[in-house]
Amino acid sequence: MAPDATTAPTGPADPAAAPVLTATGVTMRFGGLTAVRSVDLTVHDRQIVGLIGPNGAGKTTFFNCLTGLYVPTEGTVVYRDTVLPAKPHLVTQAGIARTFQNIRLFPSMTVLENVLVGRHTRTHEGLFSALLRSPGFHRAERASHQRARELLDFTGLADKADHLARNLPYGEQRRLEIARALASDPGLLLLDEPTAGMNPQETRAAEHLVLAIRDQGIAVLVIEHDMRFIFNLCDHVAVLVQGRKLVEGTPRTVQSDERVIAAYLGTPFEGEPGQDEAAEVEAAEAARAAETAAAAAAMAARAQAEARERAPGPDEPTRTHPEENDPR
Ligand SMILES: Nc1ncnc2c1ncn2[C@@H]1O[C@H](COP(=O)(O)OP(=O)(O)OP(=O)(O)O)[C@@H](O)[C@H]1O
Ligand SMILES: [Mg+2]
Repeated sequence: MAPDATTAPTGPADPAAAPVLTATGVTMRFGGLTAVRSVDLTVHDRQIVGLIGPNGAGKTTFFNCLTGLYVPTEGTVVYRDTVLPAKPHLVTQAGIARTFQNIRLFPSMTVLENVLVGRHTRTHEGLFSALLRSPGFHRAERASHQRARELLDFTGLADKADHLARNLPYGEQRRLEIARALASDPGLLLLDEPTAGMNPQETRAAEHLVLAIRDQGIAVLVIEHDMRFIFNLCDHVAVLVQGRKLVEGTPRTVQSDERVIAAYLGTPFEGEPGQDEAAEVEAAEAARAAETAAAAAAMAARAQAEARERAPGPDEPTRTHPEENDPR
């Protein structure tokens, strides 16, 4: 199917739809840094969910926890009814596929070969079958090639099948990453900044592609900085700030939330994560400054008093040296 032949967003998902992903209390600490703090997130069937937040908010770290790349310090990730182990290949096998913020293709392989690599979790022919070139192996290989070509068609890369991945323009490399992720037949696709580095036309085409993916029955969780992309596409949006989920809801709710606006503009707001700590530091600094000023004032007053003590009164003769005025 061509990506252009898509429907518009269907709006908020049916609340009765089954959850595809349920992340509960996901926390990730790196030494003293807590990159993700007790984040809960649910993605339902046929939903497109956006995950937004300023740079360094913990979005990619959260994806890495969902996909088994990181073992979360705390929390659980459930795909449909299965608690996922923190092992990437088992997560892919369960039904979650992803793309990366920094494109990860095999640059010296062809476009078709890259998609075939993504297919391997769904091929069940073993090593011996491959070595013996058994009929089962040939059947599986034909099926994989057919599926890979369908996906290239779907992502608009059919005419690039034999090109080396490294020779594709940037926007097409991002599409190829999506095709490769889809090759594992996921029920949930995680996209980490799918339009980064794209021009406006490529971004609009990526929007159509995401809608087409959802129309195929695949739920999507997408990280993006392009707010037009997020608010055009998503049924539900969650906002991460300093590792915590600040707000979530419909695009309309999130867009008008002053805490979200403040988080992006860098203006402090009531209840902002880290605000208490910042206020404590500010108060401590103010107290230290006040102490220093008081100490300086006390010193100045003491110096003045001493100077007054040493200075002669108006009737006293000036005594610059004690012997000078000695009558003896
Ligand atoms: N492997 C790691 N070791 C130590 N710190 C890390 C690691 N990965 C991420 N971090 C830190 O965790 C925080 C969150 O980073 P993360 O990449 O998840 O943010 P992000 O929201 O994806 O940002 P961006 O929008 O810039 O991609 C940052 O302070 C980052 O430096
Ligand atoms: Mg990131």
